Amino acid sequence: MKVLVVGGGGREHAIVWKIARSPKVDKIYCAPGNGGMEELAECVNIGAMEFEKLAAFAKEQEIDLTVIGMDDPLCGGIVDVFEREGLRVFGPRKNAAILEGSNAFSKDLMKKYGIPTAAYEVFTDPKKAEDYLENARFPIVLKADGLALGKGVLICRDLEEAKAGVKTLMLDKQFGSAGDEIVIEEFMTGREVSVLSFVDGKTIRIMTSAQDHKRAKDGDRGLNTGGMGTFSPSPFYTPEVDAYCREHIYQKTVDAMRAEGREFKGIIFFGLMLTADGPKVLEYNARFGDPETQVVLPRMKNDIVDLFEACIDGTLDRTELEFEDNAAVCVVLASDGYPEKYEKGLPISGLESFRGKADYFVFHAGTRKDGGRILTNGGRVLGVTAVGKDLKEARKKAYEAAEWVKFDNKYMRSDIGKAIDEA
Ligand code: GLY
Repeated sequence: MKVLVVGGGGREHAIVWKIARSPKVDKIYCAPGNGGMEELAECVNIGAMEFEKLAAFAKEQEIDLTVIGMDDPLCGGIVDVFEREGLRVFGPRKNAAILEGSNAFSKDLMKKYGIPTAAYEVFTDPKKAEDYLENARFPIVLKADGLALGKGVLICRDLEEAKAGVKTLMLDKQFGSAGDEIVIEEFMTGREVSVLSFVDGKTIRIMTSAQDHKRAKDGDRGLNTGGMGTFSPSPFYTPEVDAYCREHIYQKTVDAMRAEGREFKGIIFFGLMLTADGPKVLEYNARFGDPETQVVLPRMKNDIVDLFEACIDGTLDRTELEFEDNAAVCVVLASDGYPEKYEKGLPISGLESFRGKADYFVFHAGTRKDGGRILTNGGRVLGVTAVGKDLKEARKKAYEAAEWVKFDNKYMRSDIGKAIDEA
């Protein structure tokens, strides 16, 4: 089988690694891919938003299956283009990817179908948003409706900050048209958990749990990032929490999408908040999480290609997911200054230390190849993952392995997975 993966970050590297373990697969392409994937996949210089070019490439190369890793192409309708061309593709169509693409849509869906989430209001008029805030309780959350590279969520401590937030999103348009509409939402407190799932339109199969660390600095301080590290499983995702979510959230979401004529096939990523009133949905994503994927896939026993096929064919009810009884921790190595200003083009050394070590992985996020060298090419550069018998061991190993890699201005959080000590 020939498989094409669309995307070029750490998530796609982990997906490529997992696909490469399938005995069914002879050849993997990744578009655009990155400097670290080349041992597993041939990188193709086509951007993830160049749908027609990607479909033409898939036809020319007789690709059997295309897997879309990223949110932007999914929300832009890449799956519809591939299907129109008669190509086999894994991911939700545009009318289902709206589950991630529009916060207003997903909040209205949850309200209509009784799926637990924070109270909210939607605004298209900045003046009305400001009037509403005059009588609101703080802190409060402002969310740009559309995709904003994970950065369109503002937590505002008081009225002044919230009014400034309305200006940033709706008037200054810091995230472009993503801020044409905003959701103003009750601030929830609790522990966050990420739960990824495979969905075939009717059936949902839940993967193991994980937790991300979104802030740049230790102690959850600093700016929001794409994610600075993850661990899996989350000890806070207890069997009771799982049972509650299965009854009130997971299947209900799949059924709601179907009832709306937006059958969802692909990955639903449930961003959950474990509040004092029970688990609630913080957000939905329509794709694998990054860096959640770097800790979830190394623990998965199934052949991932079988799961992609089952979702496309609507036969997921015949499959159960299986995970190793172990744990994984991923520490992101970033370029100092991320997510604001940082240097690129710095040579990376030490990557060969991972060769032949089954419990250690280095997934490339922002790297490129330059002759025989690998250079930094983004804010999040690498994800170093280690697997251990439990979270403590995995964490110790991940931090050991993080020291094997060297580049100037290397930066990482030192407290990834520290929360497990409180469990
Ligand atoms: N780790 C959060 C995300 O993938 O959106």
